[in-house]
Amino acid sequence: MSNRDWIARSRASLWHPCTQMKHLEAMPPLPIARGEGPWLIDYEGRRYLDAISSWWVNLFGHCHPRINAALRDQLDRIEHVILAGCTHAPVVELSERLARLTGLGHAFYGSDGASATEIALKMSFHYWRNSGRAQKTGFVSLKHGYHGETLGALSVTDVALFKDTYAPLLRHTHQVMSPDWRLAEPGESAEAYALRAAADLERHLEQHADATAALIVEPLVQGAAGMAMYHPVYLQQARALCDRFDVHLIADEIAVGFGRTGTLFACEQAGVRPDLICLSKGITGGYLPLSAVLCSDAIYAAFYDDHAARGFLHSHSYTGNALACRAALAVLDLFEGGKVLEANRDKAARLTAMLAEVAAHPRVEHFRHLGMIWAFDVKDAEPGFSRAWHERALAEGVFMRPIGNSVYVMPPYVIGEGEMHLIARVCRKLLDARD
Ligand SMILES: Cc1ncc(COP(=O)(O)O)c(C=O)c1O
Repeated sequence: MSNRDWIARSRASLWHPCTQMKHLEAMPPLPIARGEGPWLIDYEGRRYLDAISSWWVNLFGHCHPRINAALRDQLDRIEHVILAGCTHAPVVELSERLARLTGLGHAFYGSDGASATEIALKMSFHYWRNSGRAQKTGFVSLKHGYHGETLGALSVTDVALFKDTYAPLLRHTHQVMSPDWRLAEPGESAEAYALRAAADLERHLEQHADATAALIVEPLVQGAAGMAMYHPVYLQQARALCDRFDVHLIADEIAVGFGRTGTLFACEQAGVRPDLICLSKGITGGYLPLSAVLCSDAIYAAFYDDHAARGFLHSHSYTGNALACRAALAVLDLFEGGKVLEANRDKAARLTAMLAEVAAHPRVEHFRHLGMIWAFDVKDAEPGFSRAWHERALAEGVFMRPIGNSVYVMPPYVIGEGEMHLIARVCRKLLDARD
């Protein structure tokens, strides 16, 4: 069947996420027949470089032989079993390894990122209730933050397009200043601005800590805000303030975890340990939906009791899915065996150098880079800029989806030299070709 057939059947039978379906009349979805490393290949053999890692999930490319082999092996053992009342090797081994890597424990599993956010919020709230401080029910998050789109997660998300329509369904939460350095005053350093943002958090907690269960943040990079980046001092301040005011710090490492910012977890760059960490996306290398929340021993201990109602009351049918856990174990094996973070540092330096002309382009401002994420803002972006860039990049063989006027690159770690040149060349060409 041709691309056209799949497009027609897709439009007739399914509802694409984050999409006004009518827009597909003008810009149809890309039908993908297969993947090969960082490449997506359509039904007519055309190849597209997956420059955004299939929504930030893919780490080691598509159809990686080691992850494939782990899944094939697991398929002949057990694909899935209920985790209430049962356990199995992949979920135990994964929990043990995640605990060693994060310094937190007792992994609780969900499926998508948003379910991890829900779990972390409920766990924090219930901890305070079990600890005799039932008035601590509030949540605080950063302006322009994103934590998913189920109702609880959307309540702590601050992206107007996703949130405004559903506002009547949501819980009221507080948003404090974002440390995004693009918002600094002229002459103000990223660090000074982050400290100013932390002072805003301090003011909020001074007044509301008694009613606040947790602060939830995306460490170092606010992805959906257009890859907004901030100085690690903010996380250090946030940790100190959460300690001082008895508020949990939830690190939503769903997008930034597993090496994306240059360290295995972004919090490491600030030397802080959160009370709860949310993991998903890259955890399975982009193979299968899986998320996990790990917590401090103190949180776990507050639930350990004879009474069922003091236990954590939450479940998903696919919790701890054996196939997904095996994929995650294969991903951790690749990290351990392959000096991935070191190799990424070299690649990052190469791509940053290749993007020098992009960074200096007259249409570009706020060029930024951290680990395996690059982003810049296009000053004169017209309405419809993001869709136009997406289409033009596709015509050049690169799959990108700018967020507003922020163009970003977040490639799989297996990206090679020629592919990095392609990204740099396409960004330059699109910037030179005015709308
Ligand atoms: C920081 C962050 N948290 C949560 C989520 C939600 O994850 P999911 O889309 O898997 O529900 C995302 C998704 O982009 C994210 O970037």
